[in-house]
Amino acid sequence: MNAPLPAEVLKQHLIDPEICIRCNTCEETCPIKAITHDSNNYVVDPDICNGCMACVPPCPTGAIDNWRLMVRAEAYGVQEQLGWEELPGEKALPEMAAALPADDVPAATDLAAPAPFSAPGATVPPWSAAHPYVNLYTHKTPMTATVVGNYRVTGADTESDIHHIVLDFGELPFPVLEGQSIGILPPGLDAQGRPHHARQYSLASPRDGERAGYNNLSLTVKRVTEDHAGAAAHGVCSNYLCDLAKNDKVQVIGPFGHTFLMPNHPRANLIMICTGTGSAPMRAMTERYRRRIDTGENGRLLLFFGARTERELPYFGPLMKLPRDFIDINLALSRETGQPKRYVQDLIRERAASVRELLADRNTCIYVCGLKGMEVGVLDALRDVTVQGGQDWSILHDALRREGRLHFETY
Ligand code: A2P
Repeated sequence: MNAPLPAEVLKQHLIDPEICIRCNTCEETCPIKAITHDSNNYVVDPDICNGCMACVPPCPTGAIDNWRLMVRAEAYGVQEQLGWEELPGEKALPEMAAALPADDVPAATDLAAPAPFSAPGATVPPWSAAHPYVNLYTHKTPMTATVVGNYRVTGADTESDIHHIVLDFGELPFPVLEGQSIGILPPGLDAQGRPHHARQYSLASPRDGERAGYNNLSLTVKRVTEDHAGAAAHGVCSNYLCDLAKNDKVQVIGPFGHTFLMPNHPRANLIMICTGTGSAPMRAMTERYRRRIDTGENGRLLLFFGARTERELPYFGPLMKLPRDFIDINLALSRETGQPKRYVQDLIRERAASVRELLADRNTCIYVCGLKGMEVGVLDALRDVTVQGGQDWSILHDALRREGRLHFETY
């Protein structure tokens, strides 16, 4: 008798559209371009994905970690997934497919060894990071916060309208760490008549609150009035946030992020490299250090901060008031009249000796946050500085990633 062949079974990799915050991390991380997106969803192409898992640890929400056993011929296609509002339930496999012993179903994790370092930064936190809470509040169970402050932190006469916004949670828990982010659900509907997706913002305040001992946090939000190509565009969430008044209510989800976290051990040094609103996590970490200054346990802080002009550099005034022996500040201004155009990577090269000294110390963690474009420039600068010191950058780079000491958050 000819036994029918069992149908080929696939462990299909899916992204939960209800939890995904559309941060693009998975698409950037995927080494074989199996992840794509449209204005609605991020999805995994079943014809390309080899289950290497490279995208799973970096996902800040865990939305990426969904799997369905499917007959391969019936796998959900890209177009179908792009239209989803929620994940479909588990399907019973047809008998023939189910007849395949469970051990024979190719688990995605068996298919390929994870690409060790497909991303430029670490996918693990520093060893002494505090344990973060993530996903306490979701689209279905958002938290309501109250606006207790909203003011502009860039010169009023400049194009960069950047706001410092303080949200208070009252008596309800919203525990966070420096380097984490939250999602904001803007009110109203999108062009398709659906509720807007959440937008992600990094915290600008430390774990014990914007005001120490208060159950609040702050965000640094730039009003978006043009797209990346410079064409006029209205940022739905940034405009909503920048226009909020005191006592307004905001729907918040999160917290998110379990790797871009600061070290907690004594004498840990931080190299912080940022542009514009990428300064938010640097402000949070710096403030954490400032509040602990009397412990005498702080390591060194070396900051590279890029902005068009001084007046467009968020928090310029308070930053310049910090004691010189507390933080080493290097401002890279790109459009200051009468000055040459400088980027953060130029200053990293100029301060090569200090950067090298800190890189040689295993207590040093590096954080990069801001424009996507600076990622390559910063890596090149760190490589040049290392090589000039007679060291092998690829060995150091691997160690920084393996030890959770090099972190990127770019957009
Ligand atoms: P530029 O004047 O060339 O735009 P923004 O104000 O747009 O948020 O940018 C913050 C700063 O980052 C600006 O000084 C901007 O310079 C700078 N910048 C732009 N592209 C890069 C890049 N590839 N690497 C480093 N800095 C950059």
